[in-house]
Amino acid sequence: MTNILLCGAGGKMGHAVARSAMDFEGVSIAAGYDIRIPSDVDFPVYTSLSDIKEKIDVIIDFSHPSLTDGILDYAAENKIPAVICTTGLSGEQVAHLNRTSETTAVFYSANMSLGVNLLIDLVQRAAKVLEDNFDIEIIEKHHNQKLDAPSGTALAIADAISDAVSYEPEYTYDRHSVRKKRDKSEIGILSMRGGTIVGEHSVYFAGCDEVIEIKHTATSKEVFAVGAVKAAVFLKDARPGLYSMKNLIEA
Ligand SMILES: NC(=O)c1ccc[n+]([C@@H]2O[C@H](COP(=O)([O-])OP(=O)(O)OC[C@H]3O[C@@H](n4cnc5c(N)ncnc54)[C@H](O)[C@@H]3O)[C@@H](O)[C@H]2O)c1
Repeated sequence: MTNILLCGAGGKMGHAVARSAMDFEGVSIAAGYDIRIPSDVDFPVYTSLSDIKEKIDVIIDFSHPSLTDGILDYAAENKIPAVICTTGLSGEQVAHLNRTSETTAVFYSANMSLGVNLLIDLVQRAAKVLEDNFDIEIIEKHHNQKLDAPSGTALAIADAISDAVSYEPEYTYDRHSVRKKRDKSEIGILSMRGGTIVGEHSVYFAGCDEVIEIKHTATSKEVFAVGAVKAAVFLKDARPGLYSMKNLIEA
């Protein structure tokens, strides 16, 4: 049995993970953690990690960056593997995540869908081939409740492109205040927010008289929830280290 502690249990993703977990044999949400206790779940939810009494094998976190440091400390102190899916983490929090992974298994991905991780692979290949003659821009679209911009996924795509090309790209989030031509080394990252859009990421390679667009659209939050539960099962018995969707796909 894989007993999960679900952080952000009262949120949209928390509910989606609880629903998805029911489809997995041998997986159970043992407890939840959130700043508010939801009334519509069938497992105990705590507002303090120190109150948790249930046996926990692995943590799934879809909450808020303000909770991430406490969750990482709890994981390290109790030697519980943690799947961190919350986005908008600061550089210091990413460093905290890396430190925690030295003693505890930590899985981190800004996007838990298989499709987006394939997109990242394809985009890296395209960037290597096209880097000399094509301008690269990323456009991401999300629902009007999303707190962070650009999305963690857009930044992960930009970072993957940076790893693939031979130059050091400069990320450009805003062009309204400068009047100058686009620099060759720029990667433009644009965010749109509205309605209930679950998540769209398009990468444009714009060249002379031709444009290549590689796009992923998520039509439901379930894709992220299923990915997180699969990651939790994968991580439960993993050795300390930092894991990503690449490891899960390869496994
Ligand atoms: N990695 C992925 O694939 C992926 C996919 C979807 C969402 N996310 C991320 O997961 C997180 C949760 O997303 P969601 O759509 O469930 O959000 P949500 O707003 O529906 O839920 C957030 C939960 O966090 C709790 N919370 C704790 N401290 C909070 C604070 N200070 N402010 C606001 N909420 C606080 C809320 O009570 C709530 O239950 C976000 O960071 C989101 O970007 C990641």
